[in-house]
Amino acid sequence: MSNKPIIAPSILAANFARLGEDIQRVQSADWIHVDIMDGHFVPNLSFGAGITADVNAVTTKPLDVHLMIENPERWVDDYIKAGATGITFHVEATDDHVALAKYLRSKGIRPGFSLRPKTPIEPYLPDLEHFGLVLVMSVEPGFGGQSFMPDQLDKVRTLRSEIDSRNLDVIIEIDGGISESTIGAAADAGCDAYVAGSAVFGAEDPDAEVRKLAELARRR
Ligand code: DX5
Ligand code: ZN
Repeated sequence: MSNKPIIAPSILAANFARLGEDIQRVQSADWIHVDIMDGHFVPNLSFGAGITADVNAVTTKPLDVHLMIENPERWVDDYIKAGATGITFHVEATDDHVALAKYLRSKGIRPGFSLRPKTPIEPYLPDLEHFGLVLVMSVEPGFGGQSFMPDQLDKVRTLRSEIDSRNLDVIIEIDGGISESTIGAAADAGCDAYVAGSAVFGAEDPDAEVRKLAELARRR
């Protein structure tokens, strides 16, 4: 059913002092995953729209922006200007996820929503039509290098069956603890896209690691 898996290295795990070089080291990546943290929605800070624009200037790959911030509606224009292809925000951080999705669509941006591990998916299933992507967090958002939470695959399975039975055009992406040892289970549950930070940038050959993950994610 699914095509080629989408591998999105997270530059959160790159060396920020040589970000451009690290991005050049993942030529086999499909997307570049850009984690934005504000120190409020999550207890960590990363970087903002300025650095996102700099990243966009050194790659032709789509930028998959993941906003872990409060009031995403206040900031999305900055990330649109910075060159985002898709913008994923957290449902816990906004009062009107559907309005924000519609706004992003009107700007030609693929709207995505994400959920903390404790947030159930069921209340959001009726709104899937408005989105192009759902990002399932398989760690508590805020930090790279945490352990994969296999119980989050129930959300992936629920989404897979909803999306297929309603014939929707929605990508299921998973983020957190994705590695050679966990990506197969995520693929079996029905993911389309995979974020990997430490597994890719912690590898001796990040590009070879991207190819290895893609191979392991090919659905059986
Ligand atoms: C976590 C971020 C992730 C993170 C993944 O809050 O959303 O994208 O960079 O890092 P790893 O792959 O190391 O778990
Ligand atoms: Zn992320």
